[in-house]
Amino acid sequence: MLLFLDTAVYSEIEEAVALGVVDGVTTNPSLIAKAGLKLEEEIPRICELVQGPVSAEVLATDAEGMLAEATVLAGLHEHVVVKVPLTEAGLQTVARLRPKGVRFNVTLCFTVAQALLAAKVGAHYVSPFVGRWDDIDRDGSELIRDMTAVFQNYGFDTQILVASVRSPLHVSQAAMWGADVATLPLKVLRQMVRHPLTDVGLARFLEDARRARES
Ligand code: G3P
Repeated sequence: MLLFLDTAVYSEIEEAVALGVVDGVTTNPSLIAKAGLKLEEEIPRICELVQGPVSAEVLATDAEGMLAEATVLAGLHEHVVVKVPLTEAGLQTVARLRPKGVRFNVTLCFTVAQALLAAKVGAHYVSPFVGRWDDIDRDGSELIRDMTAVFQNYGFDTQILVASVRSPLHVSQAAMWGADVATLPLKVLRQMVRHPLTDVGLARFLEDARRARES
């Protein structure tokens, strides 16, 4: 299973890359705005740091605008994966540029039916948002369960990139259901590392070693 970091903050990516567990990065317009960045300047820098797929999202909502933006984004770096929303214009853009070698991450996916269309049009990734289902009192992991089952039925090449991850549980659920990728904030990555029993066990080892040295 691949792990991507869901951020546009360079220092967060540096910290995660140093752990040796991050395979790529996803950004979105909200994350770019929050980091106060210009996409065209920051994406190549992130690509060089992470040396893996970096998703950069278009802002246009019409097919012609998306086509123009996707072409610019794809030209920024070989690791760029163009993010388009799961809309008719987004699907049209994938259909038109996929044959030219542009890789797409179709985002804002909330149903298996939507994911089927992303797979049919040849998206490299489709991003189901589990956390935003949870936000409206629905179990987002059921979406991943159903999506992975359907994709296995037909052997789709499109990879399921679980997004809107709010906790280590979302990552574990994505792995249990066989999703290809999970993209997570640095906060969740840090939570994945830590466990109170690990801390207690380490303290006990060190205390026993200290006592042995002093005896
Ligand atoms: O970047 C796409 C997705 O991960 C956004 O997550 O937390 O805004 O629902 P969130």
